[in-house]
Amino acid sequence: MTGPAIEAAGLVKTYRGARAVDGVDLTVAPGTVYGVLGPNGAGKTTTVKMLATLLRPDGGQARIFGHDVVRDADTVRGLVSLTGQYASLDEDLTGLENLVLLGRLAGLPKRSARERAGQMLEAFALADAAGRQVRNYSGGMRRRLDIAASILDAPALLFLDEPTTGLDPRSRGQVWEIVRAIVDLGTTVLLTTQYLDEADQLASRIAVIDRGRVVAEGTKGELKASVGAGSVHLRLRDAGQRAEAQRVLALHLAAEVRPDADPVALTARVDDADGDRGAAERASRALAELARRGITVDTFSLGQPSLDEVFLALTDRRADADGAAAGVREGAAA
Ligand SMILES: Nc1ncnc2c1ncn2[C@@H]1O[C@H](COP(=O)(O)OP(=O)(O)OP(=O)(O)O)[C@@H](O)[C@H]1O
Ligand SMILES: [Mg+2]
Repeated sequence: MTGPAIEAAGLVKTYRGARAVDGVDLTVAPGTVYGVLGPNGAGKTTTVKMLATLLRPDGGQARIFGHDVVRDADTVRGLVSLTGQYASLDEDLTGLENLVLLGRLAGLPKRSARERAGQMLEAFALADAAGRQVRNYSGGMRRRLDIAASILDAPALLFLDEPTTGLDPRSRGQVWEIVRAIVDLGTTVLLTTQYLDEADQLASRIAVIDRGRVVAEGTKGELKASVGAGSVHLRLRDAGQRAEAQRVLALHLAAEVRPDADPVALTARVDDADGDRGAAERASRALAELARRGITVDTFSLGQPSLDEVFLALTDRRADADGAAAGVREGAAA
């Protein structure tokens, strides 16, 4: 397969005059994990449903391995599988029964369905729980079973809609391993998540969406560089020295330094131009200079930007004027 796995242009979905998805473009290369990152209500699930033929777009178009999601919906359905945010397992059936049933629905003969179900339960570390009703599964087990169900007949493209939301760190790690294994077998994965670290762990490219629009797109490195390699937070002993500290930091970090609401605190976003070491070195030089001037620093941290900071940075730019314009448009349409 040479063309993109997903090629979407200007996708729109409107609910009662409000644009849940407002002109989304996406290009996903085959054999990769693509991350769609966004907060609650950003339009992730709506986008995925349109790509998976479960919702008809109100505007724009999308092709899956070259097949249009509206005109060639049947072909597309044969190529994709979707693991929803809300799992579609039968609570009263056991794990094994669920997989056998879904295998049968996917067209496998009885014997093959049983065989495949057994392999999957083994691969997803659910063999011991195979005979238990799903209602007694933990969240992590359920999620693993749901993913197993969605790859029973090896789809070319798998949509994973927030596969780890609500899971503990260990279960999240297990799901990440599974996703990597699925990609190794040749399946392309589009994964939605609210977690930057998850996109970071799994995805080679990421689209950040907010209020129905792609606000940034690129490799992980590009996205991080666009919002800065990290955040410097520091608290001073003496609020009276903050203005001077702010100037010193701005000079040595080569970054904009902002006073926080807390009168002794300062925050800066440092960029990644010369690698992570560059940022750390500049920070330590800045600290040395503060010490030399007799400015006491009580706490200091240099870390990756949080998802909040990434969003603030990415959405700051289109500010409120844009939101107001959208409001006017929606008002006029309603
Ligand atoms: N069936 C529907 N009817 C009306 N509005 C809807 C419907 N489905 C979604 N919306 C609205 O569309 C917007 C996008 O929702 P969507 O479920 O795509 O977001 P999301 O990014 O998946 O969020 P979450 O992280 O909470 O799952 C939201 O404002 C939501 O309230
Ligand atoms: Mg969702």
